[in-house]
Amino acid sequence: MPQQYSNYLTSPKSGVVVRKATAGDIPRIVRIESESFKDPYSPLLLMNLLSLYPTGFLVAESHQGILGYIIVRIVGGKGHIIGLATDEKSRGKGVGSLLVKKAMKYFKTRSAKGAWLEVRTSNKSALRFYEKQGFQPLRIIKGYYGDGEDALLLYHHLLA
Ligand SMILES: CC(C)(COP(=O)(O)OP(=O)(O)OC[C@H]1O[C@@H](n2cnc3c(N)ncnc32)[C@H](O)[C@@H]1OP(=O)(O)O)[C@@H](O)C(=O)NCCC(=O)NCCS
Repeated sequence: MPQQYSNYLTSPKSGVVVRKATAGDIPRIVRIESESFKDPYSPLLLMNLLSLYPTGFLVAESHQGILGYIIVRIVGGKGHIIGLATDEKSRGKGVGSLLVKKAMKYFKTRSAKGAWLEVRTSNKSALRFYEKQGFQPLRIIKGYYGDGEDALLLYHHLLA
């Protein structure tokens, strides 16, 4: 395998691969963040997340470039999805579910007993997406976001 592909976790027939993010990917990730969220992560925060979680910050990439990313970590024996977004033009093509699948694999190989994430209660499309990935609503976190909106905490059990 060529050196530049040694970080690649998969090589599906679709031509989309998932690999660890690098600092050079941050500008593209910033653009996806900006088109996806009203309160996008700043470049500095994304760089900090990359240095904190170098193995849990993954990007999906094709010949067209980076199509999406996911940031995960393990806390207290459970997996946490810190962030996930796909390029607007690439949505509905399986990129988001591929990234979640890789995140679940990451959690399982580290013996996580479950996985959780927070999502805005107004983000109905993400809620439907995560339900399809097997996540279930656990509870509301009042005023979780900077603008005061509540978060829904979603949880996914992982079997041993
Ligand atoms: C949520 C998000 C990551 C999904 O990514 P994606 O690449 O479009 O997802 P996929 O193509 O893998 O979709 C997987 C499944 O979810 C479904 N799905 C995806 N978006 C959906 C939507 N808006 N409404 C209903 N179902 C949806 C797909 O139809 C697909 O179902 P299928 O497996 O039965 O065909 C993407 O829409 C996104 O980046 N949204 C903006 C950012 C965001 O809200 N992030 C999550 C907040 S934490």
